[in-house]
Amino acid sequence: MDYLEIEGGSPLCGEVCIQGSKNAALPILSAAVLNHGITVLKNCPKIIDVKNMLEILIGFGCKVNWEGDTLIIDATVMNSNQVAACYARQMRSSIMLLGSLLGRTGTATLPYPGGCVIGERPIDLHIEALRKMGAELEEKGEGLCACCKKPQSSRVCLPFPSVGATENVILLAVLAKGVTILNNAAREPEIEELCRFLSCMGAKIQGAGTSQITITGVETLHDVEFTIVSDRIVAGTYMLMTAAAGGRVILNNPPLQQLGAVYGALRCMGVHCKECGEHLLLWRTERMKGLKGIRTEPYPGFPTDLQSPLMAALALAEGESEIEETIFEARFKIVEELLRMGADICTEGQKAYIRGVRKLYGADLIAKELRGGAALVLAAAAAEGKSRILQYHYIERGYENIIRDLQSLGVMVKKNIG
Ligand code: UD1
Repeated sequence: MDYLEIEGGSPLCGEVCIQGSKNAALPILSAAVLNHGITVLKNCPKIIDVKNMLEILIGFGCKVNWEGDTLIIDATVMNSNQVAACYARQMRSSIMLLGSLLGRTGTATLPYPGGCVIGERPIDLHIEALRKMGAELEEKGEGLCACCKKPQSSRVCLPFPSVGATENVILLAVLAKGVTILNNAAREPEIEELCRFLSCMGAKIQGAGTSQITITGVETLHDVEFTIVSDRIVAGTYMLMTAAAGGRVILNNPPLQQLGAVYGALRCMGVHCKECGEHLLLWRTERMKGLKGIRTEPYPGFPTDLQSPLMAALALAEGESEIEETIFEARFKIVEELLRMGADICTEGQKAYIRGVRKLYGADLIAKELRGGAALVLAAAAAEGKSRILQYHYIERGYENIIRDLQSLGVMVKKNIG
């Protein structure tokens, strides 16, 4: 069986360049089908989720071409609007094609999305919001059949600021007749990125990044060249890895404006962060301190995607820490792995109580989902001795080349295939 082998326990030293953002790239790829023409995306991450999304676009008849880390999508001709189940079931973001396919063709057939098993992850908010805009949706077998010949001007209010539902409303509204006003929209930076991309394509959108977004429909969009922002979750993972393993690290090109909640946590833990132009310098000289009162929340709160990496770091912090997960109900899957490394953690419902230990020890670990898998890599880099991480393909859904990144931080890591 394939596994990652990590020899941990030494302080990190080196620099790492932060890849393009997964959660920005995926809705932007979905948006590319709205234009009967060419989209050029620079800094697009070469991760499994992007590759799966591209396979779906190829199934529609789009042409796709990589030139280095620039991706060129030609969506001039589309002869299908069927989303291929084998790719859609591997990622949650396939649901984003609902809004863009309805916008482009007026109909869509979509299998239920897959993705990390970190809770129930229903799609009711997407469905209700799109219905409000005039879409007819019905469950058929293992998926959805949708039709929306004339998306209407509408006022939509989300009961919860779901990132994906916000993106789907925007994607359908861009080519709708009239004005769509979306209230209680998600404020995640990826929403702003999607709107920035669509605006570069000719869409009319106001209020991205706030909880009220106004989209005035346009007749057509045009070709676009766009650079994808760097990934705040990947940057946060390496920031927390520095906290856990110690040392001195430079992050090149992290999205500095998007990391406020992570900075806040790291500073309280006693980790130094210094911005130098487009770089971020991180170092720690003393033992990390524990944190209480950390809750995951919609942006600008602490991101749920960094909850597991934070937990792995806090396992080594002095004193007691508490984390509350408020977004996904099954996101403590790494606890049993960390316990095998010598951590002292217990959970009660959505709360985790962590008593910091001086050392974690290398162990055989199983990645069960993307961010939890990255958290195990972080723990292994900080732990004494050798760890083996099985099922690391989950990590490759979001991290372009975690082996290369770790090696550039001085961690001894290799992939074993067998
Ligand atoms: C996006 C991110 C994911 C991140 C999450 C929260 C992408 C590709 N993924 O996921 O990395 O962890 O935001 O920041 O951008 N919900 C419902 N019904 C719905 C939709 C959501 O109950 O129809 C619930 C979910 O089960 C979850 C919460 O709302 O408990 C947040 O989900 P949402 O904001 O939609 O996350 P995603 O868009 O799936």
